[in-house]
Amino acid sequence: MSSAPAVQAAAALPAPRGPLSESVIGALATTPDSGSAALAGTAVTGADPYGDDLHLALYVCYELHYRSFVGVDDAWEWNTELLRLRGDMEALFLDHLRARVPAGGSVDDEMDALATEHVDGSGPSYHLRDHGTAEQMREYLAHRSLYHLKEADPHAWAIPRLQGQAKAAYVAVEFDEFGGGRGSRMHQVLFRDLLEAAGLDSSYLGYLDRVGAPTLAPVNLMSFFGLHRRWRGAAAGHLAATEITSSPGSSRLVAALRRLGFDERCVAFYAEHVEADAVHEQVMRHDVVGDLVTRDPALEADVVFGMRALGYVEDVFAAHLMDTWAEGRRTIEL
Ligand SMILES: [Fe+2]
Ligand SMILES: [Fe+2]
Repeated sequence: MSSAPAVQAAAALPAPRGPLSESVIGALATTPDSGSAALAGTAVTGADPYGDDLHLALYVCYELHYRSFVGVDDAWEWNTELLRLRGDMEALFLDHLRARVPAGGSVDDEMDALATEHVDGSGPSYHLRDHGTAEQMREYLAHRSLYHLKEADPHAWAIPRLQGQAKAAYVAVEFDEFGGGRGSRMHQVLFRDLLEAAGLDSSYLGYLDRVGAPTLAPVNLMSFFGLHRRWRGAAAGHLAATEITSSPGSSRLVAALRRLGFDERCVAFYAEHVEADAVHEQVMRHDVVGDLVTRDPALEADVVFGMRALGYVEDVFAAHLMDTWAEGRRTIEL
């Protein structure tokens, strides 16, 4: 049992990385009454759709719907100026994804392709299993904390937008992610235990100031899909693709952690995913995605988009780590 408190405190606002995050974070440090006017003059024109500035600003906007930040007025969550700016940032990010993620194809073909394990893959989990250092493993875990400490929360937004068997089965998968009724078994809590056992900062958003767009964009993508009813098909596709690819990826990370001599509490998080996600994969394929596209065939293209968008942002993340390590540099200061 972990000795850490069951409820973690919200984090402090991060430091800005450019004009957009400066504007958003600066406003949040004030009241909506006084901060809205400054936001009204903020435009996304010219912003890099995959830059640190835009993705930090977007991450901070979305965080208002999760735990928010210390000292931030709750009224900001539905402030119209902030939502207008967030919408403009989302549109830039979405345009970027649509230009890079191919359209077309069926969900069945897409899921078959995702389920095919690449024995000669080259991403971080392969590298860490075969050659990586313990320090690189710790870097990897620190990056992933931006998602795993809120694991399953972004997908939970989609639940009221689903119907019938698809909804029931989606909730069954989420129920497991949330520990099956046991707080200490929630995957987000298991990851906090992992961080502690690895000697890393286990506080919520503890690494927010030290990661860039390659780490933040995958989480922003989930929040974007989850918070917009229009993207409910993509949210389901995203969760399905996550579950289909999780089991083999997690088993590579179990092997990596064992090879590098990490504590069993670190191994436990990924071992849990090897087991659970082999089951979740089947539930997502047949009962969630199968039922969803039978019920509403018009959603099929969005389900495929959600799967491929996940693949795209994960490829960017993997390339960032592998390229930086190949140059003999660290990807994050621990
Ligand atoms: Fe999980
Ligand atoms: Fe899962």
